[in-house]
Amino acid sequence: MNYRQRYDAYLQAFNEQLAACCDTYLPLGSQVNEAARYSLLAGGKRVRAVLCMAACELLGGSADQAARFACAVEMLHCYSLIHDDLPCMDNDDFRRGKPSCHKAFGEATALLAGDLLLTEAFEVIADAPVSETARVRASAALAHGAGSAGMVLGQELDLRYECQPVGEETLRLVHRNKTGALINAAVQMGASAAGGSKDDCSLLEQFAYDLGLVFQIVDDVLDVTSTSEELGKPIGSDAENNKTTFATLHGPQGAMELAQQINAEACGRLSRAYGERSEFLTALAESLLCRRT
Ligand code: IPE
Ligand code: IPE
Ligand code: MG
Ligand code: MG
Ligand code: MG
Repeated sequence: MNYRQRYDAYLQAFNEQLAACCDTYLPLGSQVNEAARYSLLAGGKRVRAVLCMAACELLGGSADQAARFACAVEMLHCYSLIHDDLPCMDNDDFRRGKPSCHKAFGEATALLAGDLLLTEAFEVIADAPVSETARVRASAALAHGAGSAGMVLGQELDLRYECQPVGEETLRLVHRNKTGALINAAVQMGASAAGGSKDDCSLLEQFAYDLGLVFQIVDDVLDVTSTSEELGKPIGSDAENNKTTFATLHGPQGAMELAQQINAEACGRLSRAYGERSEFLTALAESLLCRRT
């Protein structure tokens, strides 16, 4: 299977499981559940899901084994996007090519839809058809990446530094937490499904945080250089919110050069550790660097 075929196979397995999760955990008949489904099923690249399944395969597990964990991390990610778009946060009206959740359903329902996705993500993990050890490890990894040592902290810092000049080191810290931590959680959840060793987990952690930093640098650049049609979300959001980004610190081109350098180092380390088996993940990293959406 080449890279594209493998990505599509992951997506197919993921989409089947996500539909089943919606039936069980987000049943129709409530506005909040419908709002959660509206955002969750609107698409998105599903990068975290693919990373979760690919990490599981890298360590000798199967993609199916990690598919429920992939659903959980995408549910949690979707909650973060719904809340990120709220007027009290980034105040963005479009997401995944459609009106943001709060534009379609109102702020209170969007807030609850985010709460629901966050909560149900953990029920999905608890019920996943894998060993108890894998479920405990995965829920710890997701909670750690999403909470006070990860995404929520990153979002707090992101808001704090809206009104202050920020240097490169601080910005790396913000990006590491708001984006890298959940990307690492996705990878660690995949490793949990495969019963990965400590050494594997730390090698993957370094890769995931580098990938997360590159991913957010590219997101910052696209906010300046892309179009809202291509991205499916507004451009110029960061400037409107007075955010320092890698694009403001280095200019879009300088930021991309830095992203290329971090990416090349991260992929080099992974392929030295895993040889040919790392090919899918390094190709994924490369495609995220060059992405337009
Ligand atoms: C957007 O994430 C938020 C960031 C961390 C930059 P994605 O770019 O993965 O959004 P979707 O899931 O494809 O919509
Ligand atoms: C968001 O970063 C990271 C999250 C935790 C949601 P951004 O605010 O840059 O993400 P977009 O550009 O709105 O997708
Ligand atoms: Mg934001
Ligand atoms: Mg935003
Ligand atoms: Mg952004």
